[in-house]
Amino acid sequence: MHRRRIVVGNWKMNGRLTSGLTLAQDLVKKAELNRPEGYDLVICPPFTLSWPVSEVVVGTPVHLGAQDCHVDTHGAFTGDVSAAMLVDVGCRYVILGHSERRRDHGETDALVQKKIQAAHQAGLTAVVCVGESRQVRDAGDAASFVSAQVKSIMSARFTPENLVIAYEPIWAIGTGVTPSPDEITDIHETIRGLFGQAGAQVRIVYGGSVTPQSAEGIIRLDEVDGFLVGAASLNSDGFWHIAQFCHGRW
Ligand code: PGA
Repeated sequence: MHRRRIVVGNWKMNGRLTSGLTLAQDLVKKAELNRPEGYDLVICPPFTLSWPVSEVVVGTPVHLGAQDCHVDTHGAFTGDVSAAMLVDVGCRYVILGHSERRRDHGETDALVQKKIQAAHQAGLTAVVCVGESRQVRDAGDAASFVSAQVKSIMSARFTPENLVIAYEPIWAIGTGVTPSPDEITDIHETIRGLFGQAGAQVRIVYGGSVTPQSAEGIIRLDEVDGFLVGAASLNSDGFWHIAQFCHGRW
């Protein structure tokens, strides 16, 4: 089954106007010289940079995403940004349910599910993060924990085009530690199984301490359809290097 690969850069709360634009421009240059084949290349800057970065990337092989959206389209929600607003400035993707938002903003699976619906309604592809803590992994409950997360977001109407699942074990984010190939394969297979027949088409990417060094071994795993990259996406050479592991693979 052919699944188009995808590499998503999550800049988190990093990037000012100058550094963000430089990073985006560097990536566009690379992507125009060696156009992505067989994979989608996405960057998700902070909201303050959505529009300026959009002006750099729209119409190029680099796609724009954001790191969160509100469940409503507009209204009295101080500090929030809606999916429709993201579309308005050229976003095609939105990361939802990242463990940092679950941790820092109390986001629950129920809320994430509503956000996925809002994203889909606006025409965005949702990159939905799931993943267990170290404690859950050590207790041997990783597969059941991640299954429960995926099941509770699944009732959202999805297609293989508008949903990407990112398996991001919390203990691997920003730690330099990555799960073993067997651990990654096991969870990705578990997630895929939950989608039944559609599972063969659902894109499941890995995230957590992905670097140019770790990416090569991970992308060899049949179950891995790409990456969600945090820290390493802040360097255009490093991020491009990671993306190259997805180039031309069908
Ligand atoms: P990291 O972050 O690559 O810096 O570990 C990944 C993420 O949180 O999306």
